Amino acid sequence: MIPIPKTLKNRNLLRISDFTPSELKLVIEHSQYLKSCQYERTEHRLLIDRTIALLFEKPSTRTRVSFAAGIAHLGGSALNFSTPDLQLGNGESLRDTALVLSRYVDGIVFRTFSHAKLEQFAESSEVPVINGLTDTHHPCQALADALTIQEHCGSFKDTKIAFLGDGENNVCHSLIEICSALGGSLVVASPSEYMPAEKIRQESSLTAATTGAKIEYTDDAREAATGADVLYTDVWISMGRETEIEERRSAFVPFGIDESIFSLANDHAVLMHCLPARIGEEITEPLLYGPQSAVWDQAENRMHAQKALLSLIIQ
Ligand code: CP
Ligand code: NVA
Repeated sequence: MIPIPKTLKNRNLLRISDFTPSELKLVIEHSQYLKSCQYERTEHRLLIDRTIALLFEKPSTRTRVSFAAGIAHLGGSALNFSTPDLQLGNGESLRDTALVLSRYVDGIVFRTFSHAKLEQFAESSEVPVINGLTDTHHPCQALADALTIQEHCGSFKDTKIAFLGDGENNVCHSLIEICSALGGSLVVASPSEYMPAEKIRQESSLTAATTGAKIEYTDDAREAATGADVLYTDVWISMGRETEIEERRSAFVPFGIDESIFSLANDHAVLMHCLPARIGEEITEPLLYGPQSAVWDQAENRMHAQKALLSLIIQ
């Protein structure tokens, strides 16, 4: 068990850059420890008598269930809500919801649309807030991604990661932030009109300058895939983007990971996807379920990474 530093107590995680590179490494290390505890059935009840609210304004399978299961393993209780269950869905303010929930629970996981809305909620909350996904960031996914890459590739630093698809979405933004913090090598291949947000690119390049990370951007999917150790993709139409289906489907076709693109990667390359997947769009069925898919380990690792995060910030 790692010594749990007091500096992480009561911290929010709204985006990856809220944590320093050494704090992120600590979360990953603690995830590995808690994962081994679970496999060996060693007691790791670090959240006894603690209650966490899980609040969702968008659908969720992995985030919802991995948090609830992980909290149960840690001896705590999870309270799961979608917006219509609360007065929030009936017009009660975010501020009042945050103030009231803070009187009942020890931490809040919130999945919503705009990142500004999450920030506003966190400002009113008196207990730590974890981003369960916004339109711009998905930090819990990135923590699990880093753990998965480390497990499958041995080291994060010496692994060439290629993300193909929607560069401006939450999963890609958080992947950029964690790669830059952990000194990774990432190339994002996206159509020029769907490149990652300029501000995130600039901030990450400043971080990369201090960690030795290499983050590159291209609109050439085949070039990005060549020699990669990890090929990562996500849906082309994220939740909330449903009005853009037609233009997105046509723009992203060259960025779908099929057998031809996968053959350009290293022989031992692994495939990653945050899920849910749209088979036949960004990924083919044989690759998703094939021997080089790390996708199911990646989904499992959501739980281990979030258990580590919770037990570090709710002390
Ligand atoms: N990857 C992920 O966050 O999945 P859910 O939308 O099912 O939570
Ligand atoms: N980019 C996707 C991720 C889902 C977990 C979305 O926001 O819908």
